[in-house]
Amino acid sequence: MSDKNQSALDLEIELKLANFKLDIVQEITRMLPRSETPIQTLNFIMDRIFSLVEMEGASILLLDASGDKLEFFMVRGEKEGELTGVKMDAAKGIAGKVIASGETVLIENTEKDRDFYKTIDETVGYSTRSLIAVPLKSGDRVIGVLEGVNIDDEEVKSPAQLSEVFESLAGVISMTLENERLIEGMKNDVERKQRLLDVSHAVNSSLSLSDVLSAVMNAAKDILGVEAASLLLLDNEKENLVFHVVTGEKKRDLEKVSISASTGIAGACATSGAPIICNDVHSDSRFDGSLDKKTGFVTRSVLCVPLRSDNEVSGVLQAINKKGDAEFDEDDLALLDMISSESAVAVRNSLLMNQKNEMFMGAVASLSKALESKDPCHAGHAERVAKLAECVAGFMRPDDIELREILRVAGLTHDAGKLAVPDAILLKSSVVDSSEMDIIKKHAALSCEIINPIGVEKEVSAAVLRHHERWDGTGYPEGLAGADIPLASRILAVADAFDAMTSPRPHREKLSTAEAVEEIKRNSGSQFDPAVVESFVIAWENDMLDIAN
Ligand SMILES: [Fe+2]
Ligand SMILES: [Fe+2]
Repeated sequence: MSDKNQSALDLEIELKLANFKLDIVQEITRMLPRSETPIQTLNFIMDRIFSLVEMEGASILLLDASGDKLEFFMVRGEKEGELTGVKMDAAKGIAGKVIASGETVLIENTEKDRDFYKTIDETVGYSTRSLIAVPLKSGDRVIGVLEGVNIDDEEVKSPAQLSEVFESLAGVISMTLENERLIEGMKNDVERKQRLLDVSHAVNSSLSLSDVLSAVMNAAKDILGVEAASLLLLDNEKENLVFHVVTGEKKRDLEKVSISASTGIAGACATSGAPIICNDVHSDSRFDGSLDKKTGFVTRSVLCVPLRSDNEVSGVLQAINKKGDAEFDEDDLALLDMISSESAVAVRNSLLMNQKNEMFMGAVASLSKALESKDPCHAGHAERVAKLAECVAGFMRPDDIELREILRVAGLTHDAGKLAVPDAILLKSSVVDSSEMDIIKKHAALSCEIINPIGVEKEVSAAVLRHHERWDGTGYPEGLAGADIPLASRILAVADAFDAMTSPRPHREKLSTAEAVEEIKRNSGSQFDPAVVESFVIAWENDMLDIAN
């Protein structure tokens, strides 16, 4: 063949190749606007590649977040079902070579190539004879591989032609993946900003402080896509961190649990005041696995940021186990930091509220102790009545936390007015006469006079004032009947009577639990609200009375 003829043939092949590439790119470009999502676009491109180039299989493999694994993200050919989603070591085989070099690799005969990784073929029962693998890139970074196997196409015969076609297709795929990444990034950004706004709304809402902090930590858990998020606060001595708010499956095991601030990743964050990203706790010497051992939870990765109040570290916000194979990054840190600043004021108020509550409950406890020291028959009475009343309320209105809180304080203080009853009457070993009884009856109102100045809720005061009212209207001090008596008082009345009957008194023997329950039942509808008695009996049948008592 003359040189002239050869060059005409070369030109003819080049023209065919150019036309072929143009066909594919034109077709893809024509179809792209019809695709609604980048994934649809990729599917479309892969369908076109597979129908336009004569080959047995084509795959897009993508690196996972860690960069250690390559996943068959999209597959065409007979093994599509078996291969899609399969992960392989990103350092192995021809794909691994492409990842490492960023260059196209073409293998015309796999049997002669020692880099060829047979495991995938063996796993799915396939025989790869020839293979082309082209890098997919985002900027200069290799993010995956486009592979074609067992190519037998008349149009693209030479290795250079084949590489040229696949590389131009890889360019379109890379661009689509980049779009997908950008769109996902934007969606996540919108979602995260929305949740941050929710955090801000929660902090500025009228919710109780504990609800605000729970809402904030739940939002943190969702925004960061983690298995658990916690808020830990340093104690007064700054020696321990206490789990103040916990989200996730181990919530019940961890709430109020105290850990040393001198160990663990959270401890390191609290001590240094610096945030910590740890994507593999087991390779971090600061990790303390004792809580995992205790709860059965498996911590893999941790993100901690300090919580500041008045420029001092007051605690730590901790996010555990980024979901999927993802790792914590600087964006996550910035987000948790933002949540930490947003919640600082709520945390400070919550702490002040806790201190106030502690002082209040201290005052309440002192009152019941004062009465117990005056009258030994009252030993433990107030505490038992409070627990019993809370227990019955739990069966009657399981979701009414407020009612249980009212009953706790009212139970502890209901007889405080007896402090003002003269010892001669209060400690009398025989039955009191009617004038003495009139004095005793004043204790309900006196209790209110004693507890009101320490700042009890008005519902607590009302419950205490009426704890000797009777369902049939024959009680004191006001002779209220039925639903006119506050529910908390009706519950207190049953708990109070039950404890009095089951405790020894100078002028009578104590009753057994069963006898006392019978007595309560007998007085249902006269002394006691039948609905309260019903819940009380359920508590008894569930063996809860002895536990509460
Ligand atoms: Fe009383
Ligand atoms: Fe009492």
